[in-house]
Amino acid sequence: MSSASPAAAPDVTNPDVVLVVDFGAQYAQLIARRVREARVYSEIVPSTMPVQEMLARKPAAIILSGGPSSVYAEGAPRLDRALFEAGVPVFGMCYGFQLMAQTLGGTVDNSGAREYGRTDLHVSKSGSTLFEGTPAEQQVWMSHGDACSAAPEGFTVTASTGVVPVAAFENDEKKLYGVQHHPEVMHSTYGQQVLEHFLYRGAGIEPTWTTGNVIEEQVAAIREQVGDKRAICGLSGGVDSAVAAALVQKAIGSQLTCVYVDHGLMRKGETEQVEKDFVAATGVSLKVVDAEQRFLDALAGVSDPEEKRKIIGREFIRVFEQAQAEIVAEAAGEHGEQPVQFLVQGTLYPDVVESGGGTGTANIKSHHNVGGLPEDLEFELIEPLRKLFKDEVRMVGQELGLPEEIVQRQPFPGPGLGIRIVGEVTKERLDLLREADAIAREELTAAGLDRDIWQCPVVLLADVRSVGVQGDGRTYGHPIVLRPVSSEDAMTADWTRMPYDVLAKISTRITNEVADVNRVVLDVTSKPPGTIEWE
Ligand code: XMP
Repeated sequence: MSSASPAAAPDVTNPDVVLVVDFGAQYAQLIARRVREARVYSEIVPSTMPVQEMLARKPAAIILSGGPSSVYAEGAPRLDRALFEAGVPVFGMCYGFQLMAQTLGGTVDNSGAREYGRTDLHVSKSGSTLFEGTPAEQQVWMSHGDACSAAPEGFTVTASTGVVPVAAFENDEKKLYGVQHHPEVMHSTYGQQVLEHFLYRGAGIEPTWTTGNVIEEQVAAIREQVGDKRAICGLSGGVDSAVAAALVQKAIGSQLTCVYVDHGLMRKGETEQVEKDFVAATGVSLKVVDAEQRFLDALAGVSDPEEKRKIIGREFIRVFEQAQAEIVAEAAGEHGEQPVQFLVQGTLYPDVVESGGGTGTANIKSHHNVGGLPEDLEFELIEPLRKLFKDEVRMVGQELGLPEEIVQRQPFPGPGLGIRIVGEVTKERLDLLREADAIAREELTAAGLDRDIWQCPVVLLADVRSVGVQGDGRTYGHPIVLRPVSSEDAMTADWTRMPYDVLAKISTRITNEVADVNRVVLDVTSKPPGTIEWE
């Protein structure tokens, strides 16, 4: 018997994995998403991975991402030439393109005066593998100071710009392709088409990957992993834990028990959605812990945001651990010792990549471990979403028949409305904020804006009062802040330019319907400098 650790299980339903080699910056994740949008499975690997290891995965193609380095800089990431000689189709973008050019004997200049941002690309060979069916003049997005001035031998130059003579090159015989721009960003008008041309025409990959494959694959893998043991899952009301739980439920049915801690800081209707609609849709066995009073007591008299976060986090872990222990004890009565061996977590692919786990080797256990584990009990993790992006998780949820309100839910912070009240958290204030938030959500949905807005925190400035007039009387009420933001990943955000009439309707309804609120204000700050949440 060999003592070596077992190799990763083969991807039975997705033999066509495309590896995206990450040269830094934030492009690799976007490229991987775009490849999957083209219905081809992709994974990100670090540029430090030895080429032999990449090839050992037998990828259907390899994409080299952009990155901030210059190929001339000392310590800049390099690539073993063997990558281009293995017969695997390769597509280089931006830095990946320059590296490919340099490695194969072309010339890369770093004279500086290059294009950034929106640029006009001139396609000089219209029927080429990459550009067929796209216009001779098209807008692309550039983001690098270096550029290629001479293509390597054997390559045909297929596009240029006003200042860059070699903005794309192709070698059909060797199946090697490259572009100076970023096809993965929205501002490259035909970017997705160019990427798909590489995948389908250049690399000959069939677009067959779907989230349906993921469900089948995961259900089989979870059954195999869990056997006849039992699993437990904490539900937060958010998309990730709901979809992870539904997937595990599909695989092992009543061997799974879910726990939902109702901390009283949820928005209107959300607890009921989990208690009724989620259970109805999945048939999951759910333990709901009503801990509202416990959280209110712990938060009484506390206004400091950091202090509030700490209290909510601490109480959450205590309540969750207690519920876990109860479930384990109950199951032990019925099923013998150590009956619950698995803990389900809704870890997503960006968490895995960002914690250095893109290779599948890093340990990310602590990353999402919100519940904390009892010390005397060791759980193995089940993370059925760890290869998926958020939008794919939503698709899986939809296919599993989860309620639309859960699947399409916008991001909501773990500490809930507790951090959307500026000031002390009390039951009255929570109820008031719940009403205002429900009105805003209702009107945004009615106006069809849910998909345009990343999230719209509604905030109560509980420590602020101002004078107003309503009916015949003077009022002295609180302001409500609307914080609609547009974002791709919450790292940066801009305030959403929402239609005035929708804002007007929300404002009128909130001031009419929510007692003690006499003003609605709009937050017009981007992130940075503001954060998305007020606290
Ligand atoms: P900020 O306010 O830092 O928020 O711009 C960025 C994103 O993170 C969410 N957020 C949280 N999510 N637990 C969470 O699960 C938290 O404590 C938390 N705080 C902020 C926020 O809603 C936004 O999407």
